Amino acid sequence: MLRLEQVRVRFHDQIVLRDVKMDVPASRTTVLIGRNGAGKTTTLRAIMGVLPLENGRIWLDDVDLTGVRSHDRARFGVGYAPEDRRLIPDFSVEDNLLLPAIALRLAGEERRRRLDEIFNLLPEVAALRHRAGGVLSGGQGKMVALGRALMVGTRYVLLDEPFQGLAPALALSYADTLVRLRKSRPDLGLLITESTPRLLDKIVDNSLLIERGEISSLARKAA
Ligand SMILES: Nc1ncnc2c1ncn2[C@@H]1O[C@H](COP(=O)(O)OP(=O)(O)OP(=O)(O)O)[C@@H](O)[C@H]1O
Ligand SMILES: [Mg+2]
Repeated sequence: MLRLEQVRVRFHDQIVLRDVKMDVPASRTTVLIGRNGAGKTTTLRAIMGVLPLENGRIWLDDVDLTGVRSHDRARFGVGYAPEDRRLIPDFSVEDNLLLPAIALRLAGEERRRRLDEIFNLLPEVAALRHRAGGVLSGGQGKMVALGRALMVGTRYVLLDEPFQGLAPALALSYADTLVRLRKSRPDLGLLITESTPRLLDKIVDNSLLIERGEISSLARKAA
């Protein structure tokens, strides 16, 4: 279980997350829905440790992540695909995927195993493996960013508005990929932000609403 307790984030005089409490169970898909500026990205960035908390704690099972520096959090198996995919333009797709694994000092064999798993799940990414990160289309980049998140995300994967900016057909195909991911990795906890969550209907277990930095539960599907 990934758990946020009373998480408060402030930018200057604006409180952006107001003592947020949120449970993100393993083996489930949690969708965080909110309008522009509601605090979705800030929530994910808080979990990844890339911005400071004014108050509160973040737990992964019985490990308190709050004091763990962001680049050390990857060790705990939480992968993140940011809104803007942030690939390294001069690196090949394959090297972009491998980079977090190298940063984690994973053994060569384990890196290959994860890469093969990602290529199996995302054949369109496998086809692009030798392309440079900088020449991909928006949709291709989103897929590669998902693959990169899976490279470290052995326990949790956080996706920030995965469908944003995708043409409808591509968004559908990305949604199908998430259905396949859900089936192939039943143990994985998924936390996905969206402003229009319709495409996630097939996989969502738990919907949360975020409004002006406050989270409430929308609906809970029977487990
Ligand atoms: N680095 C920052 N400095 C100052 N204010 C920020 C910063 N990042 C976010 N904010 C503010 O925090 C609020 C929440 O932003 P956030 O990016 O989390 O929203 P969001 O729900 O992800 O929106 P969107 O759907 O547009 O991506 C907004 O009012 C935003 O202006
Ligand atoms: Mg955002």
